[in-house]
Amino acid sequence: MRLSDLYSFGAILSTLLLAPSPSFAFYVPGLAPTSYKENDLVPLYVNHLTPADSQQDRKLRSVFSFDYYHPPFHFCQPQGGPKDIRESLGSILFGDRIQTSPFILHMKNNQSCKSVCREQTFTPREAVFVNKKIYQGYNLNWLIDGLPAAQLLKDPDSDQPFYSPGFALGYVSENQPVLNNHYDIVIDYHQAGPNNYRVVGVLVDPYSTRDSKFLDVDHGQCPDEFQNNPVVLSEEKDTTVTYTYSVFWIESDTSFATRWDKYLHVYDPKIHWFSLVNSAVIVTFLIGMVSTILIRTLRKDIARYNRLDQLALDDFGGTSAVEDGVQEDSGWKLVHGDVFRPPKNPLFLSIMIGNGAQLFMMAGLTIAFALLGLLSPSARGSLASTMVILYTVFSFVGGYVSSRIYKFFHGEAWKRSFAITPVALPGLVFAVFFLLNLFVWARGSSGAVPFTTMLIIVLIWFIISVPLSLAGSWIGFKQPVVNAPCRTNQIPRQIPPSGGYLRPLPSMALAGVLPFGAIFVELYFIMNSLWFSKVYYMFGFLFICYGLMIMTCAAVTVLMIYFLLCAENYHWQWRSFCTAGASAAYVFASALLYWIKDLSFGSWTSGVLYLGYSALISILFFVLTGTIGFFASWLFILKIYKSIKVD
Ligand SMILES: *[C@@H]1O[C@H](CO)[C@@H](O)[C@H](O)[C@H]1NC(C)=O
Repeated sequence: MRLSDLYSFGAILSTLLLAPSPSFAFYVPGLAPTSYKENDLVPLYVNHLTPADSQQDRKLRSVFSFDYYHPPFHFCQPQGGPKDIRESLGSILFGDRIQTSPFILHMKNNQSCKSVCREQTFTPREAVFVNKKIYQGYNLNWLIDGLPAAQLLKDPDSDQPFYSPGFALGYVSENQPVLNNHYDIVIDYHQAGPNNYRVVGVLVDPYSTRDSKFLDVDHGQCPDEFQNNPVVLSEEKDTTVTYTYSVFWIESDTSFATRWDKYLHVYDPKIHWFSLVNSAVIVTFLIGMVSTILIRTLRKDIARYNRLDQLALDDFGGTSAVEDGVQEDSGWKLVHGDVFRPPKNPLFLSIMIGNGAQLFMMAGLTIAFALLGLLSPSARGSLASTMVILYTVFSFVGGYVSSRIYKFFHGEAWKRSFAITPVALPGLVFAVFFLLNLFVWARGSSGAVPFTTMLIIVLIWFIISVPLSLAGSWIGFKQPVVNAPCRTNQIPRQIPPSGGYLRPLPSMALAGVLPFGAIFVELYFIMNSLWFSKVYYMFGFLFICYGLMIMTCAAVTVLMIYFLLCAENYHWQWRSFCTAGASAAYVFASALLYWIKDLSFGSWTSGVLYLGYSALISILFFVLTGTIGFFASWLFILKIYKSIKVD
């Protein structure tokens, strides 16, 4: 099959399965449309300033975001000071700080060169700060009727225009940082009925001009053309700047329901298809391998073992020579008396698996919700809020799984299992989050999560999550223990030394690369959306990738564990967890690579923040994939040892 065939196959698949819209982005517009009459006030809200790729080399130079009204920027404030707009928890966690603004927009009322505030004075110190932010390519983020103010960009591959949220604070011209102080706000509106208008698109074209000072700004008269007379903030003496804006209302046929389409632009959908086909091939190959190796050899093994049993029964041990010879035969049956022996540190392992199960459910359901379009991009932060809620609710699953696994491991320290399960992973995440937040806070960035939000999270954790987990643990504890099909011998069997790829590190390195291979392209796009504050919405791809990753984890771990058992090594519990979990090491490595390729931090604090969050993501990924690996191997081992007759 040629590659183009694969693409067209993929395209058909997408239309059939997942993609009502061509961009593979699917969302329910969700919020009811806001209708405006002519001359109605349309509020413009401002959000934090975020770092974007800088002009010089398209690299990201900082990870800190700043409040719009951070004093050195001298942006004009509304009368009576800015007010906070209520936001969802997820929106705050992801850094949004939405506030009111002094811009006055009336539906269908064009404005030209109105001033917002005159003669803002930048001291040299403030100029240094702002100039640095211009060099670092910071973006302004405004919201009008829930839509982000965007810049019109063109896809370099397809030449298609699309809206890229955010517009530049300034630009660098002839090695001088230039501050934008005039904004052309272009708003697309759609007429839904008589005197009923809706906002369906927002573009902002920023300019820099000293001319605004001389304009008759209060009566609104733009010059025919702005002279090339940009505003450069002097780092030696005070500079005064006047901010102005114009508003253009343009009629559009875009309906409210499809107004997000031009924002949700898929960069290079071919890459996604390619990666999807790629991982599908890996998975098919793996599953094929697992099924041929395992099912065929296993069936042979089982048949042979059972035939020998029959033989032994028939002969009443008469021809013991043959029997002995065969009993000494190598194979996984030999370790039947040890394979269900509890691992070292059963408490720790069962807690990790419980937390992994919680994470697994949360991730799967969040992606599924997003895929079904329940998490609309217009409801800001709904993705993060959903994650928090689902994670809290699934504490129950975490407790239950942890408790049942611990029981299977013949654990004794029940109280500790109950107590540690709900605090282990959330505690780690919270601790890292809190520490990194201290850095952000020390930098005076607005990205720091406010203390009250932290408090809310702690409260949710202790009031909802912990009791749910305890309840889950209790119910799991009351369930009968999962029966092992073979009795465990008194004395542990000697494990013959195994070499080659079965040693822990090589086996992990070998197996871990495959689950990573299933998701790395999506991972790249997720990182882009995390660090470059872009919207991520390709949940169709993500959903399939998540499924492929699960299958790869399961298949490759089962294969490894089979080889391990055949080598008469019965320490499969930790091994299976770490084998699948090893893909997290690749995730971390790819984060480092991403740093080299797309990031170039000016300060070490940015680097610390980046590394901290990358490490945290990798740890979560380790627990998630490790749990998948463990469960796959567990089911596999229960199954195969059930099918042979022992004793
Ligand atoms: C506003 O100005 C733009 C550009 O000049 C023009 O196309 C549009 O029709 C005007 N809108 C209204 C409502 O006058």
